[in-house]
Amino acid sequence: MEILAMPQPTFYIFKCEQSSPPGMPKPSCVNEQNRDLYDHLSQSMMRKGIMGPVLAVRTSCLGRCQMGPLMLIEPGHYMYCQLSKEKIDRIIDEHIIQGNIIEEFLIPKQYWGDSIVLDNN
Ligand code: FES
Repeated sequence: MEILAMPQPTFYIFKCEQSSPPGMPKPSCVNEQNRDLYDHLSQSMMRKGIMGPVLAVRTSCLGRCQMGPLMLIEPGHYMYCQLSKEKIDRIIDEHIIQGNIIEEFLIPKQYWGDSIVLDNN
């Protein structure tokens, strides 16, 4: 019996779910006001029927805490910052479904320069 290969997702959405304890001087992506953003992302994906081709993953710190809440979309290393429910809905509709990157929601270049190239020689 032939076993069919499971298809890969087309997109991965890595949503930072790091939460610092109250009183920490460093900001974190999740606080009392925004802790439902991941659920909003999941429910929005479900409503639009894109679960499977798109995989949302909860991550810990992505290293750009001052610009949070954040999520990273692969392929492409697209880091969207200062998220809200409205921004997440537009990212799903425009970036994921229509294929149009929303430049004004991307993290500024000074926080997200070009990738470090590994020297394997
Ligand atoms: S806490 Fe989200 S990037 Fe650091």
